[in-house]
Amino acid sequence: MNQGRFKNKQVVITGGGSGIGLATVKSFLSEGARVSVLDYQITDELVRTTCDVYQVDVRKSESIKEAVAEIIKKNHKIDVLINNAGIEFVSSLEEMEEEEWDRVLDTNLKGMFLTTRTVLPFLKESHGVIVNTASQLALVGSALFTAYTASKAAIVNFTRSLAIEGAKDGIRVNSVCPGAIHTPLLSRQFENGKKGPQGSIQDLIRMHPLGRLGEPEEIAKPILFLCSEDASFITGSALFIDGGYTSW
Ligand SMILES: NC(=O)c1ccc[n+]([C@@H]2O[C@H](COP(=O)([O-])OP(=O)(O)OC[C@H]3O[C@@H](n4cnc5c(N)ncnc54)[C@H](O)[C@@H]3O)[C@@H](O)[C@H]2O)c1
Repeated sequence: MNQGRFKNKQVVITGGGSGIGLATVKSFLSEGARVSVLDYQITDELVRTTCDVYQVDVRKSESIKEAVAEIIKKNHKIDVLINNAGIEFVSSLEEMEEEEWDRVLDTNLKGMFLTTRTVLPFLKESHGVIVNTASQLALVGSALFTAYTASKAAIVNFTRSLAIEGAKDGIRVNSVCPGAIHTPLLSRQFENGKKGPQGSIQDLIRMHPLGRLGEPEEIAKPILFLCSEDASFITGSALFIDGGYTSW
């Protein structure tokens, strides 16, 4: 029904090679957008889509700048930025190496800053939209996730401040806060039937009042809504898409 909602729109998605990012790529493509993906891992499934793929580590500003310059050379504009690349690292604080703390914060938070800073001049021209992927763990804590939860909480307030800054240029900025979603990132937590930091997968499911995990498409659709004209008065918000996880 919404086919063509993003016709002629140029979308840039970080971390579009897998999970939530890949579902978002496919959703934008199905609604007529041209999509460019910045990811440091190029998956076969991504290559099978019609998006343009750039091998980029979002922690490296030069690599982002080169990709964005190529996107502009080819498409002349950017209308939408989805800052989605992210990693987890599961460790008690005592055992966490400084390098691991930096890796999580640099990927999840600094990468968002670097990518946004590079794309912002083009979003000013297009009066564009940004959606940042945070997490339900932006609002509540979780043992063994100190670096991850710190990065995700920061993303929510980064989003609010950027929304205020961008408003004068007609740029809207929002974050999404997914609950536990069936993606490779989550699978890695429960690999080989081992108990993850949140117990078993059944324990994690029980933490969601809806009684199940989410699917990547259930995050992609709200991301597209936030980027659409239907969300024209929404900026600075954090949309919790977590099956009720934060409502207990
Ligand atoms: N899956 C969940 O349960 C869940 C819940 C809440 C929030 N999130 C967030 O959603 C986002 C997507 O997660 P996912 O579950 O789809 O994970 P995923 O591992 O399936 O996908 C993450 C993508 O980001 C890319 N990436 C990681 N580091 C990068 C870097 N330095 N440079 C470029 N690309 C990089 C990976 O290559 C991968 O393609 C993340 O920000 C994650 O924190 C996930």
